[in-house]
Amino acid sequence: MKPIQVGLLGIGTVGSGTFKVLQRNQEEIKRRAGRGIEITMVADLDVARAKAEVGEGVQVVNDARAVIANPAIDIVIELIGGYGIARELVLEAIAAGKHVVTANKALLAVHGTEIFAAAHAKGVMVAFEAAVAGGIPIIKALREGLTANSIQWIAGIINGTTNFILSEMRDKGLDFATVLKEAQRLGYAEADPTFDIEGVDAAHKVTLMSAIAFGIPVQFDKAHVEGITKLAAQDIKYAEQLGYRIKLLGVTKRKAQGIELRVHPSLVPSKRLLANVEGAMNAVVVNGDAVGTTLYYGKGAGSEPTASAVIADLVDVTRLHTADAAHRVPHLAFHPDSMSDLQILPMSEVVTSYYLRLRVADEAGVLAQVTGLLANAGISIDAVLQREADEVGGEGSTQTDLIILTHDTREGTLNDALAQLQALPTVLAPIVRIRKEELS
Ligand code: NDP
Ligand code: HSE
Repeated sequence: MKPIQVGLLGIGTVGSGTFKVLQRNQEEIKRRAGRGIEITMVADLDVARAKAEVGEGVQVVNDARAVIANPAIDIVIELIGGYGIARELVLEAIAAGKHVVTANKALLAVHGTEIFAAAHAKGVMVAFEAAVAGGIPIIKALREGLTANSIQWIAGIINGTTNFILSEMRDKGLDFATVLKEAQRLGYAEADPTFDIEGVDAAHKVTLMSAIAFGIPVQFDKAHVEGITKLAAQDIKYAEQLGYRIKLLGVTKRKAQGIELRVHPSLVPSKRLLANVEGAMNAVVVNGDAVGTTLYYGKGAGSEPTASAVIADLVDVTRLHTADAAHRVPHLAFHPDSMSDLQILPMSEVVTSYYLRLRVADEAGVLAQVTGLLANAGISIDAVLQREADEVGGEGSTQTDLIILTHDTREGTLNDALAQLQALPTVLAPIVRIRKEELS
């Protein structure tokens, strides 16, 4: 059978990896897909670089629309990134009857509803394994492997750049800016690295996983997003002393009243596997009612690891493109007419435990005042650590750090208690609050 013809839009970090791996493993991939898969046309703004990348025999253009307009192209791979031109090109490719493979989580988290509806109406596939956790086949696992389960929760380290930054800062004592530059050099970071460090990229990914896990529409605008830029070195240190590591987690949970959808730094017990995921590695823990807890670990970014997921999608599309559209796996695992109307819960309704750090006056009665106020609010304390004043503020210091770990608390209740604590004259600086996930 004639090879399936693929057009590639954007041959940067992931595009070049995709081209290389597809060439290198073409024989094995053909035996799996049942026919050859060939990238025959590439569009990139830098035509000379693209030509150098693909060599003779592949048509290179600078106009992505020329690829979409080519009737010989069956599948379009979008590896440009962003919500702008990428959205237009994906919708145009769908309208032209092409299947689409993309690694673009930003695009799908924000415009997924529109894109999946257009693809469904046209009877084409939009495959996006590479959009979440790079080379880890987590979309496949959630959409197919765990299909028997009522998924209860997902928690993941799903941004390689921030995990790399946190690991290098902790292990090597390097500063934030130096490690971020290195992540950019290694091709992990987004074109706009604020997406990584402010938690936006992780929120795009957890939004997609949440939609697939719970059969709800993609709702990035309802996700709670916090990054790592406000994390202080002393909190990383205190967390370690208490037996925890701080990781940027994407969390989504099924609750009776709705769905939690959030990204923020979290304390994770050091003994958990997730706490020991280092560097640019990603890991996702999924809990299903039948299977229990499962863990998926691997490279979440980089040229060839991400290419691995892009090509897995190419193989899936090649195998299925002649099948009746009704027999294909739905884009978000659930049939579009069977989606749930479970709401995303506001953060005030989220229930989790907390790490609190209070800079307080080192005076008699302060600890009792703070714990008494928490007790009155119905917040139960799990552990308290009080540092020597000299250690915190230098010799003769009259201030100290009080670190409190709470048991599970509704965030709205904690916010009210924190406002009262902050107003105490003995609390001398803004209180630090970091959420804690026991993952048990
Ligand atoms: P790059 O910036 O390395 O590559 C994007 C490529 O697209 C560049 O070569 C760029 O050309 C080209 N391009 C930009 N605009 C156009 C256009 N209008 N027409 C044709 N080509 C264009 O990005 P990545 O490869 O890192 O990322 C691609 C996608 O994959 C993104 O959505 C990203 O979020 C996602 N992703 C990336 C991962 C990674 O590890 N890098 C991992 C998982 C997902 P030029 O450079 O000349 O502007
Ligand atoms: N910037 C992303 C990361 C790339 O650091 O994880 C992979 O999606």
